[in-house]
Amino acid sequence: MAKEKTLYTCTECAATSPRWLGKCPGCGAWNTLIETVPEAAGAGKNRLSTPQYAGLAQAQAVAPLSSIEATEVVRTPTGLEELDRVLGGGMVEGGVVLIGGDPGIGKSTLLLQALDALQRAHLPTLYVTGEESGAQVALRSRRLGLEGSQVNVLAEIQLEKILATVQATQPAVCVIDSIQTMYSDQLTSAPGSVAQVRECAAHLTRLAKATGIAIVLVGHVTKEGALAGPRVLEHMVDTVLYFEGDTHSAFRLVRAIKNRFGAVNEIGVFAMTEKGLKGVANPSAIFLSQHSEPVPGSCVLVTLEGTRPMLVEIQALVDGGGPSPRRLSVGLERDRLAMLLAVLHRHAGIASSDQDVFVNAVGGVRISEPAADLAVLLAITSSLRARALPKGFIAFGEVGLAGEVRPAPRGQERLKEAAKLGFTVAVVPKANAPKKPIAGLTIHAVERVEEAMQVVRELA
Ligand code: TYD
Ligand code: MG
Repeated sequence: MAKEKTLYTCTECAATSPRWLGKCPGCGAWNTLIETVPEAAGAGKNRLSTPQYAGLAQAQAVAPLSSIEATEVVRTPTGLEELDRVLGGGMVEGGVVLIGGDPGIGKSTLLLQALDALQRAHLPTLYVTGEESGAQVALRSRRLGLEGSQVNVLAEIQLEKILATVQATQPAVCVIDSIQTMYSDQLTSAPGSVAQVRECAAHLTRLAKATGIAIVLVGHVTKEGALAGPRVLEHMVDTVLYFEGDTHSAFRLVRAIKNRFGAVNEIGVFAMTEKGLKGVANPSAIFLSQHSEPVPGSCVLVTLEGTRPMLVEIQALVDGGGPSPRRLSVGLERDRLAMLLAVLHRHAGIASSDQDVFVNAVGGVRISEPAADLAVLLAITSSLRARALPKGFIAFGEVGLAGEVRPAPRGQERLKEAAKLGFTVAVVPKANAPKKPIAGLTIHAVERVEEAMQVVRELA
């Protein structure tokens, strides 16, 4: 069979060219041409030149929304509770999950454990590996203590062979580890290129939808932290999960970025052990470093990730800088840090323009909610003044540009969790102050940044 010719298509304007070009002949954008397989003859012809669609295809029946039966999706729990939590209850028939993360963080480990648990629940599974040999996967499974595992393994990187195998073996759940190693015969570009990743993911997604097989795609993350390959991958799939955490610490977070079958921002917490990943059922206290006495520059924040409150220590170091002081943050947004420093200066009169400011969320967690603002500011001022915050101190609340402290969602739950873990003093937004006192917790409700600074000055 003659090989089908490929076309280069612009991702911006969809103009095509038979050759790769740096500049799109249609819209003039640079570097937007990617290799694609041309549509089957007939399908695309005259599509644009004929305004009359009738006659080209049969009109299809439409139905009002209310008459369509809304069937609940069937979920199959993987047996790993923390993974099920982020998935919204388990794997969904025909659902496609993309899971991304740094190399070595535990993607393959987690998925092998999940497949084994599913297989032991008598669901046929298939693990397609493009990065390791079957022997290497077997070695890992022994290390994980998965004796006598019945998970089927296929070491293959050619998409067409994989599609045929999946169709022939009909697994309930299939893992592709990783999408960047797969390549389709239809394209000449190398595995891992945008065109290949897109093409392979599209075929696999179609297969999942057509057969009801749940497919998990493992994706690599670029240096910038985005999933390698086009963003379009995130649009194609039903669920996007990210592995986070510091590879030097044992804890790993799996976060749902997108989920058509559940809540987003839910997180699962795991600990990497000798025998693979173990779920951490009660993670609220794992992101605290253990100081025997309070130290300057540290403030504990109660953050709410998905449905669970967690306590995370925010550390700041403010130190005399050079002519252009640095602002660096790990686990928190840097732009937000610059904004907070400006608010601190303008509204509380605390200047740091000649200082280096470093901020870190302990344990490799990434905090995206603005409710961290107040804790960040308190950690910074504590470091600046070299005065520790009181023992058992927590804070949360969003800080606005006008210097106001805005409430955080579900403040009661956060305060209760802090009290449960033995924290005794809290500075919180006024609207989050509980009506009934919480046993063991002294609460200072504040409306403005300067008020918060005043409260802390009096406490310390
Ligand atoms: P892996 O799942 O191969 O990462 P990824 O697929 O995301 O690249 O994880 C490998 C790391 O996990 C490796 O550094 C060793 C560690 N590990 C353990 O600590 N315990 C274990 O039981 C296993 C299997 C791996
Ligand atoms: Mg791997």
